[in-house]
Amino acid sequence: MTMKDDIQQANEETRAAWDANAAFWNEKMGEGNDFVNILQWPAILRLLEPQPGQRILDIATGNGLTARRLAALGAAVIAFDFSEELIKLAQARTSVGLPITYYILDATDESALLAALGSSGSSGTFDSALCNMALFDMADIQPLFHVLPRLLKPGGKFVFSITHPAFNNTSTVHMAEEMDMQGEIKSVYSVKISRYMTPHHAYGSAMRNQPRPQFYFERPLHYYLNLGFQNGFILDGFEERAFPPDLPQDHPLSWGGKFSEIPPVLVARMRLPS
Ligand SMILES: C[S@@+](CC[C@H](N)C(=O)[O-])C[C@H]1O[C@@H](n2cnc3c(N)ncnc32)[C@H](O)[C@@H]1O
Repeated sequence: MTMKDDIQQANEETRAAWDANAAFWNEKMGEGNDFVNILQWPAILRLLEPQPGQRILDIATGNGLTARRLAALGAAVIAFDFSEELIKLAQARTSVGLPITYYILDATDESALLAALGSSGSSGTFDSALCNMALFDMADIQPLFHVLPRLLKPGGKFVFSITHPAFNNTSTVHMAEEMDMQGEIKSVYSVKISRYMTPHHAYGSAMRNQPRPQFYFERPLHYYLNLGFQNGFILDGFEERAFPPDLPQDHPLSWGGKFSEIPPVLVARMRLPS
């Protein structure tokens, strides 16, 4: 089996898992959870700076929650995902009149992306592109990074959020320990990581109790940044996002305020030269 077959097989497995989990994901995620509302969206607004009238691409839109938020701010949004089930749910959640066009498209298929979203001119038509919490769900991100400079206008921005590769990956163990700190008994919350440098994929859950596990495609931070640089982007915005100390945990050791010194998410802005 070649590397290409491997990627294709992992991609098909990923699509099947997202189709199988679509209704559960849509029900639990709704229009956003703490990760979206507290960690991702404020940073996305600062870095993407969406303006009324802009044409924005929402990559791997899921149930369309970020597409609807951008459209509510006055942007014309083109949103895609490769899960037909999620796109159906995204459409069902979208009020008539919101300027969003949904496509079923596979981000690993460069020619399909160009055919559906490209222009006949030498540069693209999108002011910016957003990929919220999905690059680590993609079996291969090289085609997307390669095609984006042809979809974006000169100076166009690409904002993405991901699980922080150094702290929040499938090898992460959440720890609680107790210590006597000079007479005061203290609880200490930390994470332990055993794998970071080598890209690999492993099963995990996007949400507790989801019907079927799905692959996470783990890559170190330098992989994302270098891929951007190799395709003509510069990095000009970067935020590591942790929960505030007073945010209660949903579960004793889940991400929340006890881990306020450890960012489970990062948000980056890459930009093309003008
Ligand atoms: C964690 S969800 C995030 C969804 C959405 N962006 C959000 O913020 O709620 C990851 C999404 O990536 C999509 N995805 C994974 N691989 C993809 C691919 N090759 N092409 C398009 N979408 C993909 C999944 O179907 C899923 O909707």
